[in-house]
Amino acid sequence: MRATALGRGLPGRFDPRAWGQAEIADPYPEYRRYREADPVHFTPEGPSGRWYLFGYEDALAVLTDQHGFGRRASAVHAEDVAATALVPAQCPTLRSLVEDWLVFQDPPRHARLRSPLVGRLSPRVVLGLREQIREIALDLAAALRGRPVVDLVGEFAAPLPLLVIAQLLGVPGELVAWFRRCALDLQQARGPGAAARAEAAAVELAAYFGSQVRERRGRDAPDLITLLVRGGGQDEPLTEHEIVATCVHLLTAGHETTTNLISKSVLALLRHPEALTALRADPALMPGTVEELIRYDGPVQMVRRWAYRDAVLRGRRIRRGEELMLVLGSANRDPARFPEPDVLRLGRAPGRHLGFGSGIHHCLGAALARVEAEIGLGVLLAEFSRMALAAEPVHYAPDLVFHGPDRLPLELAP
Ligand code: HEM
Repeated sequence: MRATALGRGLPGRFDPRAWGQAEIADPYPEYRRYREADPVHFTPEGPSGRWYLFGYEDALAVLTDQHGFGRRASAVHAEDVAATALVPAQCPTLRSLVEDWLVFQDPPRHARLRSPLVGRLSPRVVLGLREQIREIALDLAAALRGRPVVDLVGEFAAPLPLLVIAQLLGVPGELVAWFRRCALDLQQARGPGAAARAEAAAVELAAYFGSQVRERRGRDAPDLITLLVRGGGQDEPLTEHEIVATCVHLLTAGHETTTNLISKSVLALLRHPEALTALRADPALMPGTVEELIRYDGPVQMVRRWAYRDAVLRGRRIRRGEELMLVLGSANRDPARFPEPDVLRLGRAPGRHLGFGSGIHHCLGAALARVEAEIGLGVLLAEFSRMALAAEPVHYAPDLVFHGPDRLPLELAP
């Protein structure tokens, strides 16, 4: 599809659902065409038309204008239209959970749901989790040893953040395989025939976390669920439904994203052997490298907003009620912001990349994700002197929002 529209003025309709594996795995040439020719691009989709924003400044302007643009379709559409835009109608339980997710709220409810979590995920608190995270990473790496081929996604990159979230919430790590299956089912609610599976996963998770909440009413524990049950130091504590929804939100928001960061980082380093060598020689480069990897090929390629009022962007008139997709992956490759954006440069100061969003919804788990990736990659490099792809091409999940390979077969040597 790339060849057909090349060199003919304005590119045609941006429709990633029609893309093949090659474009999904490497969407950046496509983004570039739109960023150069039609950076504020309209498609007649959804309840009211959808805009795709490819430039850094435009994405940042929308993200940081909480009065002009928000995440709640119901602010500008009838309830039924808005609910369907969020989750298919066949998934009532999932819909009721998602409607209580922090990421879909405007102020003041947004602050009420976010503030009890902030203290548990701050950079300072996350620093204190480093040893626990390292132990988890070392255990997972030990299980990879001595095998001809491993799947880095299923055996390392996914269980690592899931085990960390399980510890944070105070639920048993043995449930990780079940959490992963549920989280993937939830995420694919819109896939063909997938709504029933997504709803079943939502029902299972709601029942499980509901029982966890009730159990904690009678006892004290240092975990996040107990903190929320005890009111989180707020005048208006979260309801049981809000706590359950928050647990499911953290499980999904904090899992697939970090999984993709770890696996895509390994992939990027394998494809840039000079960067891999530099990192092996000087582990102090790790924090900057992780930051640059998030800019270069971030796990969340786009986020959605709804126009809460009319606006003009680069001369294009956006009307109240229209949907906007902010293509963060393209913003992070905007040459107006990042010189030579397609080059992975370890020494680069990636500055304010948009990989974690910006504004009031800026990723709550950013500090945790950074540390998980730094430790996960560090352990892999220390434990395995050789890493090589066991199969090409790498297969990607057909999704740009949560962007990453669904498996990564690797040969490892100690
Ligand atoms: C929000 C990316 C890891 C929890 C966001 C947003 C982005 C993002 C782009 C903004 C969404 C928007 O503006 O619409 C990522 C990436 C991650 C990651 C790239 C890994 C590399 C995590 C982790 C957690 C988490 C580990 C939790 C443990 C959240 C939550 C929100 C959020 C709760 C909503 C915040 C709000 O609305 O105030 N994330 N995330 N994320 N993220 Fe992350």
